[in-house]
Amino acid sequence: MERRDFLLKSSILTLGAGIGLMGCNQTAAPVVVPDGERIRVGIIGLGDRGSTLIKVLNALPQFKVIAACDILDFRLKKGLENINDKAVGYSDYQKMLENKDLETVIISTPLHEHHRMVMDALDRDVHILCEKALAHTIEQSREIKIKANNSSKLFQISYQYQLNPTFNVIKEIIHKGYLGKVMRVDAKWHRNSNWLRPVPSPELERQINWRMYKEYSGGLMAELGSHHLNMIDNVIGAHPVKVVGTGGIDYWKDHREVCDNVFAIYDYPDGVKASFSSILSNKFEDQTIKFYGDKGTIVVNRMKDAILYTEDNENAGWGEDIDGVSGASIKIINRDKDNRRTIDLPKEYAKSVVFENDYEQATLLLLKNFAAAINGEEELSLGLKDGYQSAISVHMANKAIREENIQHWLPEYDV
Ligand SMILES: NC(=O)c1ccc[n+]([C@@H]2O[C@H](COP(=O)([O-])OP(=O)(O)OC[C@H]3O[C@@H](n4cnc5c(N)ncnc54)[C@H](O)[C@@H]3O)[C@@H](O)[C@H]2O)c1
Repeated sequence: MERRDFLLKSSILTLGAGIGLMGCNQTAAPVVVPDGERIRVGIIGLGDRGSTLIKVLNALPQFKVIAACDILDFRLKKGLENINDKAVGYSDYQKMLENKDLETVIISTPLHEHHRMVMDALDRDVHILCEKALAHTIEQSREIKIKANNSSKLFQISYQYQLNPTFNVIKEIIHKGYLGKVMRVDAKWHRNSNWLRPVPSPELERQINWRMYKEYSGGLMAELGSHHLNMIDNVIGAHPVKVVGTGGIDYWKDHREVCDNVFAIYDYPDGVKASFSSILSNKFEDQTIKFYGDKGTIVVNRMKDAILYTEDNENAGWGEDIDGVSGASIKIINRDKDNRRTIDLPKEYAKSVVFENDYEQATLLLLKNFAAAINGEEELSLGLKDGYQSAISVHMANKAIREENIQHWLPEYDV
């Protein structure tokens, strides 16, 4: 079975299986995991993303959260309160790593902290789930990749949108050739907000708003672009070969050091081009990816809805109905006179929805897959390669923007 088929089947099959205890729309029977078989996990970084991860971990009996760490007292306190299991709190992650009971570590700290935490966790020989992007620089990403290549433990990167069933349906449609030859992908993540967080006390500005400072952050390319770049790589089946880009602090004239307006154009093998754009002054197209093939176009909105527009040239060969070819789990419906079809989710998905919020639901699928992979029941869906490739792509674009030149994927990046 090809990897993508495996992923599609496994995501659909496991979707039907029972999911943990807590949830909004739970319909399946709760999974009971004996305490001794629960995967003992420690989490570093209990901020925004850490809170979502805790909520999802609470819903997955496969995991037992035994340790949690944050350098900010109020975050640590709140994080510990939110964990359903009885976890030990730490303010020093290295002390947490000394906890001999840990089997798995989740890293959800700001970008500049990922490298040393991953390297130390690799030394500790535990399974790792690291938040995106992999690391703050190309060199750090390379070091992680080289070291993790030799680990016998699992490494998952947190690009949860890849596990959204909509994305898997789209991937299958494209891989089965329905769009024909895809020569262009355009991705956007547009917002209309300053991207600043309220700060409880002025001395915490840099810690709370770390995304705004180059010392800690890769800006919009790392925080938002990395998700889309990972999905594009995955559909195209390759990493980019070069990139040009432009960006600036053009709209929000405040203290920030990272661009509020970025646009990067990547070249992939065989002449395929992909763009990523992110602005903070208009959210009209929000979170959108468009795949353009010579037989049709798919427009994905917020990873939730997708529309397929057929080309009307004779070679496109669209029949009245392509449902059968895509397998029973996929429905393409509502073909209208404008050659537009809505792509529906696999029916099995509905049974598995625990969280109404798509972001949390996708995170649940990510962590479920992580647990199943640790238990040897599934292939890991998002690994080191995903994390590494998109991190290099992010930093190539940031370098191209900074240096106003073309950045190539160099042979030394192949590690
Ligand atoms: N996968 C996703 O969709 C998604 C969404 C949001 C954020 N993220 C990623 O998650 C990571 C964290 O982002 P966030 O929004 O939660 O940031 P955040 O600032 O809200 O939280 C980070 C936490 O890490 C803590 N921290 C910092 N240095 C630490 C250290 N040395 N030891 C222990 N704790 C430390 C901070 O005090 C803070 O509480 C980033 O890499 C971000 O890109 C991913």
